[in-house]
Amino acid sequence: MATVTVNGQPFPAEPGTPLHQVLRRRGGLEMPCAGQGRCGKCRITASGALSAPSSAERAHLTREELARGVRLACCVRVEGDCRVTLSDSARSQICLSGVMDAVSLRPRFHACGAAVDIGTTTLAASLYGADGTLLAQASAANPQAAWGADVISRIEAALRGEGGALAACVRGAVDALLNQMAEQARIAPGEIDGLVITGNTAMLHLFTETSPEPLSHAPFEAARLFGETCSAGSLGLSACPEGSVYLPRCVSAFVGADITTALLAGGICGKDETRLLVDVGTNGEMALWHGGALCCCSTAAGPAFEGAGLSMGMHGQEGAVDHVSVRDGVLLPHVIGDVPPRGICGSGVIDALACLLETGELDETGLLETSPALIAPPAALTQKDVRMVQLAKSAISAGLRTLLHTAGISCPDVAELAVAGGFGSCLNAENAGHIGLIPEGLVSKVRVLGNAALSGASMLLLDEELAGTCEHLARRARTLELSANPVFAEYYTEGMFFGHGTDGL
Ligand code: FES
Repeated sequence: MATVTVNGQPFPAEPGTPLHQVLRRRGGLEMPCAGQGRCGKCRITASGALSAPSSAERAHLTREELARGVRLACCVRVEGDCRVTLSDSARSQICLSGVMDAVSLRPRFHACGAAVDIGTTTLAASLYGADGTLLAQASAANPQAAWGADVISRIEAALRGEGGALAACVRGAVDALLNQMAEQARIAPGEIDGLVITGNTAMLHLFTETSPEPLSHAPFEAARLFGETCSAGSLGLSACPEGSVYLPRCVSAFVGADITTALLAGGICGKDETRLLVDVGTNGEMALWHGGALCCCSTAAGPAFEGAGLSMGMHGQEGAVDHVSVRDGVLLPHVIGDVPPRGICGSGVIDALACLLETGELDETGLLETSPALIAPPAALTQKDVRMVQLAKSAISAGLRTLLHTAGISCPDVAELAVAGGFGSCLNAENAGHIGLIPEGLVSKVRVLGNAALSGASMLLLDEELAGTCEHLARRARTLELSANPVFAEYYTEGMFFGHGTDGL
């Protein structure tokens, strides 16, 4: 048995074990391409008895980096005792705040209650006292990132028999958030006696260790749509095993409980006005409230706006270019934190492309004058990055336009476009319109909701009677299937170009 010492902490491992399997036990590893050696982003520093650098490592790492011991975690095998340094990368700016519609206080807990949002990338939680006071908040990266940045990689891992490990790591992370908030609020974790845990359909399947098999193939159905209560202990939460957990109802396989709770937080439904909600993540999930009915859809936008998919993409954390403007034809990037730029996050990508269009360095077809285009050296966008963003942004805008088309309405009929999710809170709506991520006719109607999934979960926690409304809404919602929809296909092709092209809506 060999010993792998990770940041000073020893882990036993059989020689021949892939190093990433050991690092997953510790947590803190991100493997955006699910260990295929394609993204080059699972960098660690290691020394000792390890396998020789693979061809993927030689392709992604310079000779100087390899000499310093930089390796790709997904390509290395343990051969004997070794030491690994895993940079607990600068904290992501995880959005915890969000708008919240007013609630009557009818809590589903007695002493303290917790609302949790299990996002594909991040986890966020809020702790409340019996009088409805917010006592503490906490957040963390979703440790399932060690199985891949996107939902599909994780579903595939679960189907390979790793469902137990995927559930255990996210449950451990939720437990850690609950303990952390209890400590901040100076209560015992066991005092948390009611919880609401929201997330997209796949995240709730993986959290509850429900087989995601039906989510993995056509006709893409969910094994469970939730809207149910169970005990924290039965879900493997040890911080407060006696607590009761409500899992809000999902609409369908790809429109999850995070959308149901976001709709609640944003007060989207139940009014006469027509409203749209969009959550831009690896899946762009969107919903239209019109004429007293809810219609939802989801598009596979890919990870272009989540940081994982682009050559220098990263989450919104220290060193990320998060905003770009132009002055006198020159790009002016803003970097998070007082540190040199390391990459570019979703909001930065949108701004950068809008600015490159303005300076003429990017044309309407998506062709860069020079590739890579330097944004804040070394942060840059390559031609391949731009193509990936084109696919993602046309999928989102085509989804929104198809929802409107199906309802027989157009942009002037819409009172509001509510943008949920952490990414949305940094979004420059004008630039998003400029690159065609959202139809131009909706730019002036954008309302940023922040972490609406978490806010909506908090509402369900504080007023247990809202669960019925929420479930009714999710049950009655219509889901629009986009993959074989000719209207979507047309908007998708049209939306691939930069610039306008959204006229007529
Ligand atoms: S190269 Fe290792 S996860 Fe992508």
